[in-house]
Amino acid sequence: MLVYLNGRFLPREEAKISPEDRGFLFADAIYEVVRFAAGRPYRLAEHLMRMRDGLTALRIAAEPQFFPVVAARLLAENGLDKEDALVYAQISRGAAPRAHAFPPPGTPPTVYAFARLTDPPPAPEGGRAIFANDERWGRCDVKTVMLLPNVLASQMAREANASEAILVRDGIAWEGTKANLFAVTGGVLRTAPKGPRILPGVTRAAALEAAAGLGLAIEERPLAADELFSCEEVFLASTTLWTYSLVEIEGRPIAGGRPGPIAARIRETLQKEFRGARVGLVT
Ligand code: PDD
Repeated sequence: MLVYLNGRFLPREEAKISPEDRGFLFADAIYEVVRFAAGRPYRLAEHLMRMRDGLTALRIAAEPQFFPVVAARLLAENGLDKEDALVYAQISRGAAPRAHAFPPPGTPPTVYAFARLTDPPPAPEGGRAIFANDERWGRCDVKTVMLLPNVLASQMAREANASEAILVRDGIAWEGTKANLFAVTGGVLRTAPKGPRILPGVTRAAALEAAAGLGLAIEERPLAADELFSCEEVFLASTTLWTYSLVEIEGRPIAGGRPGPIAARIRETLQKEFRGARVGLVT
């Protein structure tokens, strides 16, 4: 597999990152995951905008424009340009002797990217979830690699034979460990509002647009964890999943234990948008 590291394309075994890299030492880094079908990206501009916002928020001196060219070459060189694939890119503040405050100006950021096949679609009968305490830092809106609480919650879910953990803070079910959370209640599509407690998902925004197009009522308002049990539908949304219905949380069935129609209609709308989009990789 050929990967990209700091301006070079090289076999993964030869890609070496310093142990002093601030991504490794401090999780001082951001990342993106973009979906491609036969080389065509889904909502690339939104991903690049979020990358730029994250770099600005953390004051990392890098620009997102490397991404389209690098992604195209990674897909081509790895034989993924005819496939459904994901491209992951991570930018850290670079390597420097360990000190908490920023390294001297001019320290080059570390830029790493790789491509791989998408995951197989999740099981059509829907997934199980558990609740996990949301112990993430206060800026969940920045797509940082500070994912240790997400990792621990995700492992907790796996050990509970669930596919996802819903992160709960102050009684609010904010989002999943790697996806945004939606619910349908009283016919209204609900999701947490944008703000420091959630990642502004590209798929979240697309799902809200799709729902509006389908004539659904929408409310961006926090969902109490307790409320989820009386909802008509609960589902996740992300680049990797599109939408994915949750049919059980904490061992209790949601909406009769079957995936609901709204998640399916939104998923179909997003996939149709993607199939129909003419936007090329290099914009
Ligand atoms: N995760 N919330 C969190 C905490 C996420 O990590 C993600 C994405 C999302 C959905 O964002 P988007 O629709 O832009 O993918 C929401 C990626 C896919 C990952 O970590 O693999």
